[in-house]
Amino acid sequence: MIKKEQNDILTLGIETSCDETSVAVVKNGREVLSNIISSQIDIHKRFGGVVPEIASRNHTMAIINVLDQALTHANVKLDDIDAVAVTYGAGLVGALLVGVSAAKAISYLLDKPLIAVNHIRAHIAANYLNDSDLAPPFLCAVVSGGHTELVDVKDYTHYEILGSTLDDAAGEAFDKVARTLGLGYPGGPEIDKLAKQGKNNIEFFKTAKIISDDYNFSYSGLKTAVINYLHNARQREQEININDVCASFTYYALEPIVQKAFDAARELGYENIALAGGVAANSYLRQRFDETGKKYDINVYVPSLKLCTDNAAMVASMGYYNFINKVNIADLTLNAAPSL
Ligand code: KG4
Ligand code: ZN
Repeated sequence: MIKKEQNDILTLGIETSCDETSVAVVKNGREVLSNIISSQIDIHKRFGGVVPEIASRNHTMAIINVLDQALTHANVKLDDIDAVAVTYGAGLVGALLVGVSAAKAISYLLDKPLIAVNHIRAHIAANYLNDSDLAPPFLCAVVSGGHTELVDVKDYTHYEILGSTLDDAAGEAFDKVARTLGLGYPGGPEIDKLAKQGKNNIEFFKTAKIISDDYNFSYSGLKTAVINYLHNARQREQEININDVCASFTYYALEPIVQKAFDAARELGYENIALAGGVAANSYLRQRFDETGKKYDINVYVPSLKLCTDNAAMVASMGYYNFINKVNIADLTLNAAPSL
């Protein structure tokens, strides 16, 4: 069995907000003892996106087995757990309810605190699992399938959102453009792969348009620009270089995030900047953050690929900080908050 010192706190994390059923055990908010992820991507692929009802049903079928595996891999018993942390929003309501119900049952059974975790805050906490030296304050760009936000992380449980998307999220734009290009779901990894072999040589926008003065983002115009480009090229029977479309789209989608995130970090005088969310797995974004960090002498933190996309270890880490700061301690009335 795992050696647990008297002051150690083990949090069980549960994540079912979208199409990953995940349970993890994390020690003292920083050390991943297990992080089991059962992905439904192959099930939803044939529909070109996540089907909410199918997602809920598959979470229900997977959750007990995933919990079992998480405890076994961590080499702990359910009794060793000190707090149960669960994503209660944002996400798909039926999917969230599976995790929330499981967490309530375990918390009741163990008579241990139930901690409600905001999914976006959990993505930010993925950085604490990767780098034991990272501590607030820092600037975090949260870029996922549902969110595109610049967050001033003032403390572990104290945040200010400086800007966000006015329409689609960045990941959503990757998925929609991929669908238009006839690529698979999820679109982000596919576009990432093809962009590496292409050139950024299609001007979807004038640069000034994507660098607005505030910290907000917009993706619907870019999505339309790519669709129009493809439509016109097909009508004129011009050859379309998909790799170049992917490279150019990636530039217009992600360069504003690089520029604005570093502008914000410099304005705040922060020495540290972090990336979070599924789109943080993008190789262009990771490289540009690295380069720009060196240019401005700002330390860049990026979670490992497994910790970028949805997983329960990040939920357990955020849950730990909520727990020790007495924030979001829930009870059996906890409900899913789909649009948190
Ligand atoms: O954080 P996440 O797993 O789920 C949400 O909370 O939304 O993010 C999923 C999103 C999808 O839109 C997917 O296409 C995108 O992250 N994504 C990527 C890459 N890997 C995943 N986008 C761009 N490049 C990638 N390599
Ligand atoms: Zn997510």
